[in-house]
Amino acid sequence: MSKAKILFIGCGNMGGSIVSAIDSHDFDISVLKPTSPSPHLKPHIHQYYQSPDQINQTFDCVVLAVKPQKLSEVGSTVSHLLDSHTLILSIMAGTKSDHIASYLGNPNLPVIRIMPNLPVSVGEGISTGFANSHINARHKDIASRLFKNTGELIWLESEAQMDAATALAGSGPAYFFLTVEALTSAGVNAGLPEKTAEKLARQTLTGAGQLLKEHKNISAADYRRQVTSPGGTTEAAIDSLFNSELPRIYLDAVKAAIKRAQELAQGLTKS
Ligand SMILES: NC(=O)c1ccc[n+]([C@@H]2O[C@H](COP(=O)([O-])OP(=O)(O)OC[C@H]3O[C@@H](n4cnc5c(N)ncnc54)[C@H](OP(=O)(O)O)[C@@H]3O)[C@@H](O)[C@H]2O)c1
Repeated sequence: MSKAKILFIGCGNMGGSIVSAIDSHDFDISVLKPTSPSPHLKPHIHQYYQSPDQINQTFDCVVLAVKPQKLSEVGSTVSHLLDSHTLILSIMAGTKSDHIASYLGNPNLPVIRIMPNLPVSVGEGISTGFANSHINARHKDIASRLFKNTGELIWLESEAQMDAATALAGSGPAYFFLTVEALTSAGVNAGLPEKTAEKLARQTLTGAGQLLKEHKNISAADYRRQVTSPGGTTEAAIDSLFNSELPRIYLDAVKAAIKRAQELAQGLTKS
């Protein structure tokens, strides 16, 4: 079977993480972007283009890995790269499949949206996918194989759920990085050297994450109860977190991210 031809439009932090995880036995990867790809990506890239004018072929799949604000600029210049079978795969936050199709000049284009998160770069990502009504089994197979080495891919039933998934998992790594920063500061405040505090915070998060990964039958709440002895030190800290309304803080954070995704989508609405 011949290799599927994939064009990445944009290949920055997230596009580059995905490209570096793709199995080059399966795909011919081309990249279109204004500046030359980073050296570490070059072994994964079959062909690099600086401008759409340099391309005189169509692709099995075009991956939109630019910022959502770039869609109008990109959309008007790439229609000659698509044929009736080309899958459009977008990783852009907040940007609806019908807006993408309309910016690319054909409301009936097959569009898959995938929301990855940063750990895809180490094969530990969690991505969510939504397929519009023009997608066939071959398109879904291409998308699943492209993300095969990046971690897990979960398909959502409704596009409306993509904003919630983006707010939880797409933006989620930043919440845990902030937790490590905050715990490091708390450790320093309590008298630990900064390096030691950072190491303790980082490895505690990593170790707790590894437990959740390895024992999927044990819920996070069960683990929390397991390490929280009545009247003990952990209980004192957990009570303080509940009194500070940590669950509500996360609820508000996720709502803020959803609102921003909707604003970004609104800004892109094509009249
Ligand atoms: N970062 C994340 O954690 C994350 C998570 C989920 C989803 N996403 C989504 O992924 C997308 C990309 O984010 P990112 O963090 O990878 O951004 P980024 O690092 O800034 O990458 C953007 C890429 O777009 C390219 N580009 C800019 N203008 C272009 C044009 N006219 N034609 C072709 N390429 C162009 C840039 O090329 P140059 O390098 O040559 O300037 C760069 O490679 C966004 O839509 C974001 O919503 C990101």
